[in-house]
Amino acid sequence: MRAIEPIPESMRAAVVYAYDGAPESLRVETRPVPRPERGQVLVKMVAAPINPSDLMFLKGLYGVLKPLPVVPGWEGMGRVVATGDDGLSRLLLGKRVACAAPNQQDGTWAEYMLTSATRCVPLRDTVSDEQGATLIVNPLTAWALMDIVRNNRQRAFVQTAAASAVGRMLVRLSQHFRIEGVHIVRSEAQAELIRAMDARYVLNSESPDFDQRLRDLCHQLHARLAFEAVSGMLSARVLKAMPQGSRLILYGALSESPLMADPRDLIFEQKRIEGFWLADWLSRRTLWSQLRLSRQIQRALGNLMHTTIAGKYPLSEVHRALADYQASMTAGKRLLVMH
Ligand SMILES: NC(=O)c1ccc[n+]([C@@H]2O[C@H](COP(=O)([O-])OP(=O)(O)OC[C@H]3O[C@@H](n4cnc5c(N)ncnc54)[C@H](OP(=O)(O)O)[C@@H]3O)[C@@H](O)[C@H]2O)c1
Repeated sequence: MRAIEPIPESMRAAVVYAYDGAPESLRVETRPVPRPERGQVLVKMVAAPINPSDLMFLKGLYGVLKPLPVVPGWEGMGRVVATGDDGLSRLLLGKRVACAAPNQQDGTWAEYMLTSATRCVPLRDTVSDEQGATLIVNPLTAWALMDIVRNNRQRAFVQTAAASAVGRMLVRLSQHFRIEGVHIVRSEAQAELIRAMDARYVLNSESPDFDQRLRDLCHQLHARLAFEAVSGMLSARVLKAMPQGSRLILYGALSESPLMADPRDLIFEQKRIEGFWLADWLSRRTLWSQLRLSRQIQRALGNLMHTTIAGKYPLSEVHRALADYQASMTAGKRLLVMH
């Protein structure tokens, strides 16, 4: 191991004991600080956000279950203070990085996290700690989804949960690339927020005329691609509204409900449903292209990919941070701050 500062024996970390989402199953306690081996880096964490994927993970609803007890948190930022002393990890020693948690071990809601060097992205000086902490999950997803629109030469798309961080990035990206977006939200306050971003087509799924207006817009704009993050009945309503041969890509399940669809849309209208997972999308890119993409996104952070931060909480207040976030996700990300 090679380190740039003394590494303490123990640290504070949030630890999950059961996948039931209960506050008492998540405790802040003292844990040993792990030591990096070949290919690994030890990140002294500065900040980590709470994302929907973390909420799902705490309830055992995410696509990955780690052996318990485990530290949650899928992304964050910090400084690499020790490495396994091999080629790639040595390059990161002392660097500020955005980092993603390993798939089977402890995550980012701790004072230190051990991860693979390939899961770290060096941060430019112009990127703040707050934006660095939220660099990986949502900006890369928004970029990947816009990539799908452009690679399929679509001139319009539909998205749900448009007031989310990903949704707002998609609004800005669609304006940047001059692609029409039909942005679906669930309240008038959210509709106002998206209209204030100069979005032209904003629909509230709670309005009585929602289904007809969505259908009219999809046909008028030839919108044959939908990014759906809610699941449940909203998937069925969006699929129903789109023209024959359309494609719905489910990338979230904010309602935590099974996806619904009218079988006739699939059988007689040749509409398709598929899933999107960032981890899978990234695994199909080389390390070099991931790094190039992360640089591009860091350059775009100031305008296109900015994440709203609604509050910062010490790790000891993780339960308050979770409650505040769930009470109003649209307000912005809540960051856990460690050092
Ligand atoms: N597949 C992937 O690889 C991947 C990667 C990144 C993100 N995602 C998904 O992208 C989605 C957005 O993430 P984010 O971090 O951008 O979210 P976020 O900023 O935390 O915002 C969530 C938004 O969804 C709204 N919402 C919550 N529950 C809802 C429901 N049942 N019906 C309709 N709207 C609801 C919230 O509104 P309120 O304020 O009214 O609650 C809020 O506007 C999530 O589903 C997440 O899992 C997927």
